[in-house]
Amino acid sequence: MHQIAGSSVNWKAIREDFPILHEEVHGHPLIYFDSAATSQKPLAVLDALRSYYEHDNANVHRGLHELSSRATEAYENARKRVASYIGAASADEIVFTRGTTESINLVAQAWGGKFLSAGDVILLTEMEHHSNLVPWQLLAERTTTRLRFVPVRDDGTLALDQLSSMLTPEVKLFAFTHISNSLGTINPAAELCTKARAVGALTLVDAAQSAGHMPVNVKELGCDFLAFSGHKMCGPTGIGALYGRAEVLDSIPPWHGGGEMIVSVTLEKSAFKKAPHRFEAGTPNIAGAIGLAAAIDYIERIGRAEIFKHDVDLADYAMKRLADLPGVRVLGPARERGAVVGFVMDVAHPHDLTTFADQHGLAMRGGHHCNQPLMRRFGLTGTTRASFYFYNTKEEVDRMMEILQAAVRFFK
Ligand SMILES: Cc1ncc(COP(=O)(O)O)c(C=O)c1O
Repeated sequence: MHQIAGSSVNWKAIREDFPILHEEVHGHPLIYFDSAATSQKPLAVLDALRSYYEHDNANVHRGLHELSSRATEAYENARKRVASYIGAASADEIVFTRGTTESINLVAQAWGGKFLSAGDVILLTEMEHHSNLVPWQLLAERTTTRLRFVPVRDDGTLALDQLSSMLTPEVKLFAFTHISNSLGTINPAAELCTKARAVGALTLVDAAQSAGHMPVNVKELGCDFLAFSGHKMCGPTGIGALYGRAEVLDSIPPWHGGGEMIVSVTLEKSAFKKAPHRFEAGTPNIAGAIGLAAAIDYIERIGRAEIFKHDVDLADYAMKRLADLPGVRVLGPARERGAVVGFVMDVAHPHDLTTFADQHGLAMRGGHHCNQPLMRRFGLTGTTRASFYFYNTKEEVDRMMEILQAAVRFFK
């Protein structure tokens, strides 16, 4: 049985909660090592979605009938659940979005559009996913705000010794990823927020790779915004959240207009609801929010500290095993990394290697992982990325090694 030292969780039993893990791919048992792209979904989440559509489905906030009340209650309870999961002071600090990308675009367009002007600086890092880069580039074009980047060192960590000189008074926001989706680096988010606050800058944490993998608490981090996606943490696609500290969120104008976000409308102008409803124009993803709440319940039954230990242990194991392979280069820190291991091998291009692995039932990702500037920083066009979650095992890592060894023989 797959065991993690010091863990009381029966990880093998947990796999039974994920029917998809029984799939066969090209005649082989599936090994799913692409959870950084999207995680698999447990029965508890699938059941919650089905039960909502079977028993309670109606539109929210506008119906004067029983089903609408039930749907509204479930949707707003999901908001409370998200708030408690990340330690927000109130559910009013949670905006439901389509995911991390939409959350960051909301901040860039609505907050950035109102508060930034020529000469202001947004501080990012060289390891940002395109979704925490392109929205700021679009904003910079519109407002002549400048972008500045904390460099990444050769070992995949941020050059924190340069942070003080980069955090000048012109910096209005420091937006950075909590865990790198290509390097596995875990950034010291609380420390970064403290340093930014000291110069009066707001902070945005991209928690896409951390929210489902480790304890994340916005008060402990001391951030102003935090963005994450439900689908990377056992929830459905098309749902995620933006946390905004109440004082900051209240100061931001709406970004999308439409139904649901108004108090009154005349032909000439409208008055808007308070946050968070001001930011949720149109019919929201009601089932998605309910599915996300079910995913949170599921994750918390296991425990995020346990999940984190499992991730670190499995990533360490994979790093050790990969070191045995000839002609392999692994990106990112050697130890204490998130559940992401990106590598290149001399024998084959990442796309060919990933396709070869797929023929053996092993699902990984090959390419730039929406990190083109970071890949360029390391002189690469892409990597093969194995990314893990708590349903993965050391036996699966062993099987990955056999497949990679076969690839060495095949491509030589
Ligand atoms: C670090 C990071 N940020 C943002 C995103 C974007 O997430 P989504 O596509 O769910 O909006 C991802 C997705 O891979 C990610 O890994």
